[in-house]
Amino acid sequence: MSLVGKHLIDPGDFTLDELNSVFQLAEKIIKKEEKFSEICKGKILATLFYEPSTRTRLSFESAMLRMGGKVLGFSDANVSSVAKGESIADTIRTISAYADIAVIRHPKEGAPKLASKYSTIPIINGGDGGHQHPTQTLTDLLTIRILKGSLQGLRVAFCGDLKFGRTVHSLITTLSRYPDNKFMLISPRELRLPENIKYSLENYKNIEIIETENLESVIDNIDILYMTRIQRERFFNEADYVRLKDSYILNKDKLKYAKKDMLIMHPLPRVNEISYEVDEDERAVYFKQAEFGVYARMALMALMLGVYKNA
Ligand code: NCD
Repeated sequence: MSLVGKHLIDPGDFTLDELNSVFQLAEKIIKKEEKFSEICKGKILATLFYEPSTRTRLSFESAMLRMGGKVLGFSDANVSSVAKGESIADTIRTISAYADIAVIRHPKEGAPKLASKYSTIPIINGGDGGHQHPTQTLTDLLTIRILKGSLQGLRVAFCGDLKFGRTVHSLITTLSRYPDNKFMLISPRELRLPENIKYSLENYKNIEIIETENLESVIDNIDILYMTRIQRERFFNEADYVRLKDSYILNKDKLKYAKKDMLIMHPLPRVNEISYEVDEDERAVYFKQAEFGVYARMALMALMLGVYKNA
C-alpha cells in the first residue's frame, strides 16, 4: 500500500487502510517530531489559495517547514495570473514544474479535481466551495482517534450549517465508513445536510440518523458535538444569513446537560456559535484539533511524497 502518485480530492480517494496509515504516522510524529525534521529536505509545497484561509494554508506550510521542506504559493488569487484570466489548468501545468506537491483551495466545487487532471504532481484539495475538505477530515479523525481512542461506535452530532459546510460533508461520509457510528443532524430547515448525502447514508449504509432543529433536545446523548459556522459567503442573499446566523450558540448553560466526556469540536473559524466561556471547558478541543491538523498534514505529505515508507 502506498500513497505515492495519488491525489487527495475526496476522502473516499483513500481506503480505510490508507487513512489509517496517515493516522499512525501522525501519531509517530507527535511522539518524536525531531526524527522527521529533515525528511522533506529538497521538497517544495505549493499552496494555491483562491479563497481565504488561516488554518489550512498555514498548517500546510508549517507542516512542510517542520519536515525540512520549502513552500511557495499565493493566498489571494488577485495577486496571481488568475486575475489576468489564466485557467486553473494552465496554472497547475506551470506549478507542476515549480513544486513537488500542491494544495488548492477554490470557491468552485470540483476545481481541485480539474487541476489534478492537468497536474504532474500530487494535488490535495484544501476545500472546494461547499463540497469537500478532506484534510480537515484527516484532522478531525486524528483528533477523535487520539482523544476518544476509536473511530467507531460513536454518536456524533453535527450542528449549524450542514448544507454549505464542506467539513461536515467530508467528515460524515468518512465516519460512515467505520462501524456503528450514529449521527444527529442539528440545523435550521434551510441548512439541512444535502439530500444526496443523507440518502446514501440511510439507504446504502443503513445508518441511523436523527434530524432536529433543536440542540437542547439531544445534547445529553452525544459523544462528539461538531459545531460549524453559518457559511455566509455561500448565501445568495445577506438577509437569509442575518436571519440564520445565530441559530445556535453553545454556552455553559447548555453544556450542563451534556456528557462529561463529550468532545466539542469545530473546524474554526468560529463566529458566534460557541461562546468564549466554553473555551475553558475541558470538553472544548477545537484548538487542540487545529494543532493536530499540522501533524495530520505532515503525515499526509510525507506519505504522498514517498519520503517515509514504513508507516
Ligand atoms: C473550514 C473551511 O474552510 O471549510 N475551515 C477550515 O478549513 N478549518 C470551516 C469554515 O470555514 O467554516
